[in-house]
Amino acid sequence: MRPFPPLLLVIVSLPTVARAADDVVIADFESPDYGGWVATGDAFGAGPARGALPGQMAVSGYLGRGLVNTYLNGDKSTGTLTSPPFDLSRDYLTFLIGGGAHAGRTCVELLVDDRTVRTAAGEDNEHLAPFTWDVREFKGKQARFRVVDQETGGWGHVNVDQITLTDAPATPPAVEVPLYQEAYRPQFHFTAARNWLNDPNGLVFYKGEYHLFFQHNPKGVNWGNMTWGHAVSSDLVHWRQRDHALIPDALGTMFSGSAVVDWDNTSGLQSGDEKPLVAIYTAAGGTSDESKGKPFTQCLAYSTDAGHTWTKYARNPVLPHVRGENRDPKIAWHAPSKRWVMALYLDKDDFAFYASADLKKWEQLQTMTVPGCSECPDFFPMIVDGEKADDAAKVKWVWTAANGRYLVGEFDGTRFTPESRDARQVDFGNNYYAVQTYSDAPDGRRIQVGWMRGGRYPRMPFNQQMAFPRELRLKRTDDGLRLFNTPVREIGLLRGKQHDWSNLALAPGDNPLSDLRGELFDVEAEFEPAGARAFGLEIRGERIAYSPADHRLTALGSAPLDAKGGTLRLRVLVDRTSLEAFAQDGEVCLSGCFLPPANNKQLRVFAEGGNVRVRSLRVTELTPALRVLETER
Ligand code: FRU
Repeated sequence: MRPFPPLLLVIVSLPTVARAADDVVIADFESPDYGGWVATGDAFGAGPARGALPGQMAVSGYLGRGLVNTYLNGDKSTGTLTSPPFDLSRDYLTFLIGGGAHAGRTCVELLVDDRTVRTAAGEDNEHLAPFTWDVREFKGKQARFRVVDQETGGWGHVNVDQITLTDAPATPPAVEVPLYQEAYRPQFHFTAARNWLNDPNGLVFYKGEYHLFFQHNPKGVNWGNMTWGHAVSSDLVHWRQRDHALIPDALGTMFSGSAVVDWDNTSGLQSGDEKPLVAIYTAAGGTSDESKGKPFTQCLAYSTDAGHTWTKYARNPVLPHVRGENRDPKIAWHAPSKRWVMALYLDKDDFAFYASADLKKWEQLQTMTVPGCSECPDFFPMIVDGEKADDAAKVKWVWTAANGRYLVGEFDGTRFTPESRDARQVDFGNNYYAVQTYSDAPDGRRIQVGWMRGGRYPRMPFNQQMAFPRELRLKRTDDGLRLFNTPVREIGLLRGKQHDWSNLALAPGDNPLSDLRGELFDVEAEFEPAGARAFGLEIRGERIAYSPADHRLTALGSAPLDAKGGTLRLRVLVDRTSLEAFAQDGEVCLSGCFLPPANNKQLRVFAEGGNVRVRSLRVTELTPALRVLETER
């Protein structure tokens, strides 16, 4: 290791300007070993790598021959590599970084006084790109540089080289971009202002406000410290984030659950004019120091001020531990029996139903095993599309699991009898999970929100996004009753310029959208195959394609789809880091997260191996749904 090579900057010397000090190379990883750096785990080996490691794609962008490369033994190896202390004697610290985009997990960190004051991750790319930190606020202090690999899945490695202190960085420092304007921040999909988010919780509508609670880590960009975050909206599009609603306590951290309006005050919790809003959630015993040794239980919290503030019920839990890590209670009102019903996840692929007259005492009705399903059940009544709710016998009950798979059946207040054994699927995408529908939505609408599990947001202050809210419809089809999903019509509130085409005969190579550029769109198209092997849209390099021969729709994942009658109706919501595709009016959907290249904002409509007739094509530019973080105003 050569710590201080004589690397001189070319400076234009003006007599009145102080000459910038020379660069200080902290590490260039050219020696056979790591010098005084300390390695833990099995990801680093005895010394720097020389380029790519066995099984790795080509690695580029590093200087000289050596670099840190934690692909040693593939992605599964983990560990840390920490430098000896050095003085922050310049204004900037620069380095080259590549590898996984797992914020906080495949990353580098700057430690000052043993605190992580800066961190950066790769971008799922084997090319090492320059990165600069402004370290002026720590000038003169001692620091250590740490390479971290704690990720064992895909892109579970990080590549680092040429760590240098400088007063004149070649790449401008990473600046703090205002919240909600960051490069990968979705512009109309819900994200927490900061930090990690997962399941939507407590979806309830009351007096003009849609409440969206969500699994949140207030302390970091990775999962943990589960707390109920809270946001409200009057239109499902523009959200205001509020203070946290439920914070961890001695019974556990706050796992998923649901909320209802207790219109008849069955709980007796009403204390003023407002109807009580009641949430039932899981206290995840054993997930914090405070709750060590305690089991998972179901607890109640309520609000008497229209959902602004929440009080935990004094006699929690309302449902003691049943089995395993039982969790995710979802409550619905069963009007004929005037009782509440709770769907609960037990363990493995086992679920249960409970009933209660007052939301506080619960009795078990039934257990149910649904292969291929786990976590976050939902259970709600629906009327078949086009039919009238004039007869209780017409009401169907739909049960869904976290992955969105569903069963349709009858529920008599005691027993749910599904019409099929196997759960069916609407969304086949890579990123649609922990779905839940709104209680008490106006006009009998059934609105579902899912978490787009698994998206990547390198270098962002937030992590994860919700899918755009969807309206569910139950339709009679040749294959029986089926759920259809479409984006809620409120997307129209973001409508910008519209571009329309009709009756285009599209041949391979044609692209009527070649003049359009952007990041936010609602695209609707109707195609009729005319010999094409594949056809569809390409959004910023990502294909959404239908293959008539394979009967498959591909869009960051793939779904079986028989475009009966030959016509494919396709709708795609495009946000900065997600694509949601809906085919045949929501019969099949694919929700996917992506990290599009910054320099590609192009759209394409294409045909391959033959022609396609584009009966209609509408591209609507969408405007960002500006957000407000109430707690920070
Ligand atoms: C689903 C889930 C739930 C649990 C929550 C914890 O994503 O695992 O079962 O309540 O997340 O954050």
